[in-house]
Amino acid sequence: MNDILPGEVERWHRVEAVFRRMAELHGYAEVRTPLLEHTALFARELGEGTDVVEKEMYSFTRHGDELTVRPEGTAGAARAYVEHSIHGKEPVTRWYYAGAMFRGERPAKGRYRQFYQLGCEHFGDAGPLADAEMIDFVALFLRAIELPDFVVHVNSLGSGDTRARYREALRAYFTPLEGALSDDSRRRLANNPLRILDSKDPRDKQAAAGAPSILGLLDEADRAHWEGLLRHLDALGVRYVVDPSLVRGLDYYTRTLFELKTTAGDLGAQNTLVGGGRYDGMVASLGGPKVPAIGFAMGLERLLATSPLSAARPGPACYFAPLCPAGADQALVLARELRARGVSAEVDGRALRLKPMLRRADALGAKLCVLIGDGELERGVVTIKDLTAHTQDEVPLAEAARVLAERAGRASDPEARPA
Ligand code: HAM
Repeated sequence: MNDILPGEVERWHRVEAVFRRMAELHGYAEVRTPLLEHTALFARELGEGTDVVEKEMYSFTRHGDELTVRPEGTAGAARAYVEHSIHGKEPVTRWYYAGAMFRGERPAKGRYRQFYQLGCEHFGDAGPLADAEMIDFVALFLRAIELPDFVVHVNSLGSGDTRARYREALRAYFTPLEGALSDDSRRRLANNPLRILDSKDPRDKQAAAGAPSILGLLDEADRAHWEGLLRHLDALGVRYVVDPSLVRGLDYYTRTLFELKTTAGDLGAQNTLVGGGRYDGMVASLGGPKVPAIGFAMGLERLLATSPLSAARPGPACYFAPLCPAGADQALVLARELRARGVSAEVDGRALRLKPMLRRADALGAKLCVLIGDGELERGVVTIKDLTAHTQDEVPLAEAARVLAERAGRASDPEARPA
């Protein structure tokens, strides 16, 4: 679990701001669900046999309730969707979220126990247009945060019958190789052989190398969906690779699966920036009607580990360097007036000599430094040093706030800061 300190947090803000803007352009509205849900929600929807549910959840009992700190956002979003009968209010719902998730995984670069996800969930559209548009949105987003080096992997898991037939095919394939599998995979062979395909154990990886592809087993409707997806992606010009080994680590998926993996940086096995897919059965399994859904989530830490976006922490537009006690009073009043005009201002209250205060103004990247000493007060002025233009002049005290605000200009308008 990480502390994100000022200096770094500005990069988080920039990525979050781009995400919010792009999500809203695509019709998504923010949803905020609790950090805690009933343990049974995750166990049932993510799947008892998954690593997340078996090994990684932070679960506890309080007041007789079995609770879990959310390991992901999809189950909570779908629970809220059903609980508030959203399906009765609108045919299609697009939600996005940004928040902390918790998984007791083995920590590594890009893999943390508290991590932050940005995600979207889209209910009520059976696709495949929705699927393609979502994948395109994610690819556009990665480019917008200056991460152009990624590969889009897509696969289909089929639905109902196809999944069952695929499970049989995998069981038949892996059974003769049972001795070569990890303990976990041997255990999963009987009830959840799909999980063997996303095992990170090198023995399982080797055994899985020749496993049959599900794409050959798709029934007519699944195949039409899959072909529709590829056609829409082609129409959008999204480049992708068909990856039959992509199964993802959660049990709720049906049909479309996708991941965007970075080819830059040194995240190693943690190179999956974005993971998502369709989960057409979840709303009904939570007691709602049959509403199809698709979504994705991405780990902010992983995005930031590879994105070159700079911190770009803006300094104050005006830095006040009072040189006497009466000057400090004047500085306090002026700084307050500037903030009321939307101009950022800081007062140096350390009662220092000029030089260290100017050094601080420079270090903060302030645009203007305002000096108020006995001389200025006697003349009824303030001295304004423009730290970018390297000029200096005196302005009457009564006009100081207006002139400073003008000169600070758009540089102090948060909306006008470079994106
Ligand atoms: P997931 O693949 O488990 O999917 O996680 C999505 C993304 O979250 C990963 O690709 C990664 O970037 C990030 N992530 C996951 N675990 C960690 C970790 N321990 N440390 C850092 N980053 C991590 C889901 O969570 C699904 N809910 C996605 C989804 C939404 N599917 C449909 N809708």
